[in-house]
Amino acid sequence: MTPAPHGTERSPAGDSSERVVLGIESSCDETAASVVVGGRIVLSNIISSQHDLHAEYRGVVPEIASRAHAERITPVVREALTQAGVTLAQIDAVAVSVRPGLIGSLLVGVSAAKALAWSLRRPLVGVDHVQAHLVAGLLARRPAGGGAMDVPSLTDEHAMFPALGLVVSGGHSSIFLMRSPLSITTLGGTRDDAIGEAYDKAAAILGLPYPGGPIVDRLARNGRPDTVKFPISRLEPGSLDFSFSGLKTAMLYHVHGVPTTRGRGGTAAIELNERSIADACASFQAAAVGAVILKLDRALEVCHNARTLFVGGGVSANSLLRSRLQSMATERGLRIVLPSMEFCLDNGAMIAALGHRTLAARGWMSDPFTISASPMSAIAHEVAGSGTLEVPRRP
Ligand code: KG4
Ligand code: ZN
Repeated sequence: MTPAPHGTERSPAGDSSERVVLGIESSCDETAASVVVGGRIVLSNIISSQHDLHAEYRGVVPEIASRAHAERITPVVREALTQAGVTLAQIDAVAVSVRPGLIGSLLVGVSAAKALAWSLRRPLVGVDHVQAHLVAGLLARRPAGGGAMDVPSLTDEHAMFPALGLVVSGGHSSIFLMRSPLSITTLGGTRDDAIGEAYDKAAAILGLPYPGGPIVDRLARNGRPDTVKFPISRLEPGSLDFSFSGLKTAMLYHVHGVPTTRGRGGTAAIELNERSIADACASFQAAAVGAVILKLDRALEVCHNARTLFVGGGVSANSLLRSRLQSMATERGLRIVLPSMEFCLDNGAMIAALGHRTLAARGWMSDPFTISASPMSAIAHEVAGSGTLEVPRRP
């Protein structure tokens, strides 16, 4: 097939709510592709995780990750199409994660997306991975038997804004002001370790496998959350930033003992057994989740007119965080949008969802095929308390 020069991509025909977007994700250690209709109905969601490849290093090795993406991207896309029951010709647009992430990993997805969009003469759209986590809660599978969808239609979404967004993952712990799914600014971010990274390191200290988040979450259910006094980092008054490195060090000292100073002070290492591990997990989880709630409380003081709280990222699968967020939303009369479990971790469906909204807002015009990947986020920062946060309520 002769490739189409940029600008000759065919705009898809028909109603935007019927359009089919292929979403591709390869920013870290998941190779993922998904077919989504109308920006919200997920027909397939294929995720090939590389956890087994990185487990012995207790973290993601960039070179291993990009090589594995290159091997897996074609079969993953093929499987996404097969499970969705659509052909390449039925794809109306291709969306791909272009930042932030591991550059060698991102480039694999971006190259695959460009090749597909170019050869199909369909629009290409590059999206921000972290921003995409925020719309993961707007995705759903079509109910078996054809009942009503439990997510709002695209046209009803505007009533959910202004909103606050929370992304908690292996690489990010951030709070956003959302004027719409496409217009977001960062109010607070990670100063050091992200929350998921702290979970993974805490698990490693306790001798638990990688990734640690789901295991710590499970073991915490049998532990006592008040047995270890782990710190909750507040930072400066009013700060919406997160810091989890102190919590990670506190876990290290709790397990291996505090180092002595010239023979004085210090504490002994603890014996790791089922009981002590469960207690440490429960206490760690209480502090980690407590820090998130504390910062959201502060954010709501500044953005008191937020109507909705959008949550996303791998740690949004955490059972304690989900229940604390639900209670917080109920108490404050906030609507909460939490992703279903399959859309918490990195996936192509959220990329398709954000890609769909981006394309719909600009008449399905393609990005230039010269777009590239970037390790850095491009989301602007907004300073809480600067007076710029007041978002007027819609009449
Ligand atoms: O969003 P994600 O797949 O990747 C990044 O963009 O970083 O998040 C992965 C992170 C890992 O750190 C993992 O330990 C954490 O999410 N995670 C959890 C849970 N499930 C996954 N952390 C706490 N509780 C969980 N249930
Ligand atoms: Zn992610």
